[in-house]
Amino acid sequence: MINHSATSASVSGLVHIGIVGLGAAGRAFIPAIQAHPGLRLVAVADPVEQVRHSVTNELGVTAYESLQDMLGHPGLDAVYIATPTDLHPEHVALACAAKKHVLVEKPMATNIEQAGMMIAAAEQAGVRLVVGHSHSYDLPIKRMRELIAGGTLGRVRMVNTWCFTDWIYRPRRPEELDAALGGGVTYRQGSHQFDIIRLLCGGMVKSVRARTFDWDSDRRAIGAHVAYLDFVDGSAATAVYNGYGRFSSMDLCFNIGEWGFMQPPESRQPVPRRSPDSTPEAELLEKQKRAKNAIPGSAPYQPFFGITLVSCDRGDIRQSPRGLYVYTNDGQTEIELPTDQTPRDLVMAEFHDAITGKAPALHDGKWGLANLEVCAAAIASSGTGLDVLLNHQVPVPASLPETSNRDPG
Ligand SMILES: NC(=O)c1ccc[n+]([C@@H]2O[C@H](COP(=O)([O-])OP(=O)(O)OC[C@H]3O[C@@H](n4cnc5c(N)ncnc54)[C@H](O)[C@@H]3O)[C@@H](O)[C@H]2O)c1
Repeated sequence: MINHSATSASVSGLVHIGIVGLGAAGRAFIPAIQAHPGLRLVAVADPVEQVRHSVTNELGVTAYESLQDMLGHPGLDAVYIATPTDLHPEHVALACAAKKHVLVEKPMATNIEQAGMMIAAAEQAGVRLVVGHSHSYDLPIKRMRELIAGGTLGRVRMVNTWCFTDWIYRPRRPEELDAALGGGVTYRQGSHQFDIIRLLCGGMVKSVRARTFDWDSDRRAIGAHVAYLDFVDGSAATAVYNGYGRFSSMDLCFNIGEWGFMQPPESRQPVPRRSPDSTPEAELLEKQKRAKNAIPGSAPYQPFFGITLVSCDRGDIRQSPRGLYVYTNDGQTEIELPTDQTPRDLVMAEFHDAITGKAPALHDGKWGLANLEVCAAAIASSGTGLDVLLNHQVPVPASLPETSNRDPG
C-alpha cells in the first residue's frame, strides 16, 4: 500500500485527490476540486458501472469499482468520501489505514462512537480528517461570524435558523429515510443547521430540547424538527426544518433558494407527494439521473439555506440577496459579498490548507462529532420529552477570529 502521501503533498503543495461515491454530493465537488490550483483530481470510485463510465468520459480520470482499489492509485494523497453516511466509518478507516488525508461528507457517521473511532484512526495514521459541511461555508454565514468576532455588535444572544424545503419527497435511497442509518432531516439537514448555529454561537452547546416529526404515513421518516439549543455562555438558538414541501423558505428569503438561484413563486411547481407504491429501484434510478445536476455550480445570488437571523446586543444580522443586512440603531445597511466562490470551493480550500499545513481545519473530526452529537441529542430529546445534556462539544478554535461573546457589554 502506498504510504508516502501525507508528507509529499504537504511538501509540494499539490494534492492528488480521489472521490469515492459519485452521487449528488460527490459530483457537486468536482468543479471545486478542478478550480483549486493546489488540487488535482486523479481518480474516482463507484460500484455503479454507468456512473464510472460517464465520469471517465467527462473527466478522463481513472475510475475504480471500489475504494480499496482506488487507494492503490499511484501518488494518491487524499480522498473525498461522498458515499452513503452508513459507509463513512468503514471508508474513513480504509483511507486512514492507507495514509490518505480524508474529507468526509456530513453527517460524518450514524453515531458518536463511530465518529470517535474515525477521529482516532486519522490521528493514529497522522492524516488530516475534515468533515465537509457545506452550509456554514456559505459566504454570508462566514461573514456573520467575522462581524460577530469584530465585536461592534456585542455579544450574540440568539440565532434562529429556519428552513422549509421538499427534502422528504426528493428521490431517496431507503437508508436516507432511516434515522438509524443517518437518514431523515435531523441527521441530514440538521447537521447543516447545527453547524451554522455552533459556528455563530461559539461552538459550546450545553443542552438540546427538540421535537422531531414523521407525519406522512406514505413516506415514513423524520421529515421535520424544531430544536432549541442552549449554549454554555447563555446564548440560545432555534433550528426549524420542514421537508414536506408545501411552504418554501424561499418565500422568506427574497425567493432565493439553497444554491443561490432566484425562483419566484410563479416559476415553482407544486411538490408531488411520493406514492407508497414507488419502488426503491425506481427511486434510485431517479436519484442517479438527478445526481449530476442536483447541486449546481456558481450562482448569481448568495445561497439561502433558509433564513438565518442573528441577534446581538447592539444589532441583528440576516442574509440579503447580495450578502448581509445589518440592523443597528442607525438603521439597515447592506454588506455585499462576492459570488465567484461556491461553498464547495471553500470546503476544498480548507481541506487543502489543512493538508499542506497552511491552516488547521475548523471543520475537523472533533467539530464534526460535536455537530453529530447535537443531531443525535435532538432525536433522543424528542423521544423522551427532556433536555439532553451534551458532552462532546468543542469551541470555535482560537486560531479563527474570536467570537464577541466575551464582550463585557
Ligand atoms: N454537503 C452537502 O451539501 C451534501 C449534499 C448531499 C449529500 N451529502 C452527503 O453525502 C453523502 C452521500 O449522499 P448523496 O446524496 O450524494 O448520495 P447518493 O446516493 O447520491 O450517492 C452515493 C454514491 O455512492 C456510491 N456508493 C454506494 N456504495 C458505495 C461503495 N461501497 N463504494 C463506493 N461508492 C459507493 C453510490 O453508487 C452513489 O453513486 C451522505 O453522507 C450525505 O449526507 C452532502
